[in-house]
Amino acid sequence: MSDLIFLDNGATSYPKPEEVYTFMDHFYRNFGVNPGRSGYDLCMETGELVEETRSMLTEFFNGTDPNRLCFSYNSTDALNLIINGLLKEGDHAITTNVEHNSVLRPLYHLYKFNGVELDYIPFDSKGFVDPDEFPKKFKKNTKLVVVNHASNVIGTIQPVKEIGKYCKEAGIPFVIDASQSAGKIPVDMEELNVDVVVFTVHKSLLGPTGIGGLYVKEGIEIKHTRAGGTGVRSAVKTHLDEYPYRLEYGTLNTMGVAGLQAGIKWIEDKGLDTLHEQEMRLTAMLRDGLKEVEGVTLYCQEDLTDHISVFLFNVDGLEALNTGTILDVDYNIASRTGLHCAPLVHEQIGTAEIHGAVRFGVGPFNTEEHIATAIQAVKEIAESRRK
Ligand SMILES: Cc1ncc(COP(=O)(O)O)c(C=O)c1O
Repeated sequence: MSDLIFLDNGATSYPKPEEVYTFMDHFYRNFGVNPGRSGYDLCMETGELVEETRSMLTEFFNGTDPNRLCFSYNSTDALNLIINGLLKEGDHAITTNVEHNSVLRPLYHLYKFNGVELDYIPFDSKGFVDPDEFPKKFKKNTKLVVVNHASNVIGTIQPVKEIGKYCKEAGIPFVIDASQSAGKIPVDMEELNVDVVVFTVHKSLLGPTGIGGLYVKEGIEIKHTRAGGTGVRSAVKTHLDEYPYRLEYGTLNTMGVAGLQAGIKWIEDKGLDTLHEQEMRLTAMLRDGLKEVEGVTLYCQEDLTDHISVFLFNVDGLEALNTGTILDVDYNIASRTGLHCAPLVHEQIGTAEIHGAVRFGVGPFNTEEHIATAIQAVKEIAESRRK
């Protein structure tokens, strides 16, 4: 069997840059202790790595205060902290049909169990929400607008700058879910008028699983929804209010921080724009190749500007799950099938009732050869359906 062709980079990036594996191993062997206020050398060095990485990421998102960059387990965790920390009974929140369940479900829980009102903005036929629809939904009790920066399903990059402008004028906290975008395209909080950016490390930031986080601008007050150890000021009975402790609980994933630091360095060394251009060139090749295949339905924009490197397709007459299984078993190609944790996207494009679609996600280690093999594989699968 030939080597695995990994086209499931929307779920997680694989493989990671060699530098990520090497640095994580080196770090954990040599400095893998609990950072905090103890004075021994290892402890200080681990603490330094954490603080250095906070600073790197703060700069990456164009924030100003590294202490307001908090680490969490992943973006789902960070989104729960934000959503539950900002909203209370009687509040109103606005989101979109582009969201992942890591936004939809915490919001829906608040709607169902805590009397929070919700509005969902649909996307247009090209996959973009219209910023002008947001202020139409603003109310006196609107306390949060949360938008997926880049769709993990249809790949479109949402006009967050314009949405953020409306939120800023109305004084409503604006949160973006940058799970897919951070590490692929610039996420500049100032430029995009964003108050809180949420990220996960194992996708486009090319680090390991088990770590994510958020940057919270000054002025955004998030109530505590958890409490625990912080390693400092242990005599205080409540969880600390000051950042980063305010949103960090218990021992940090320091090995994850090491992988994150190595991931960002690798991305910065190669160049964010260069990597994105390379991925989008391969994405266009893949999309155009599949377009020519009889018996394939594509769910992808013609224009790939404002797009990341994921898109959907189905082989006519075949359930997505079956196409994915054939790709895996017969061709050793990894894809992702189903609803991709984003049921409203599939409802809107009409694929929910056929149990979803197949998603290809191109990453920095894919090659033209991978793309050609994937096109040929889908062609053969579609041909076999027509026989
Ligand atoms: C847009 C988006 N948001 C949130 C998430 C959740 O990320 P994690 O599982 O790392 O929390 C994902 C992962 O698929 C995603 O694509």
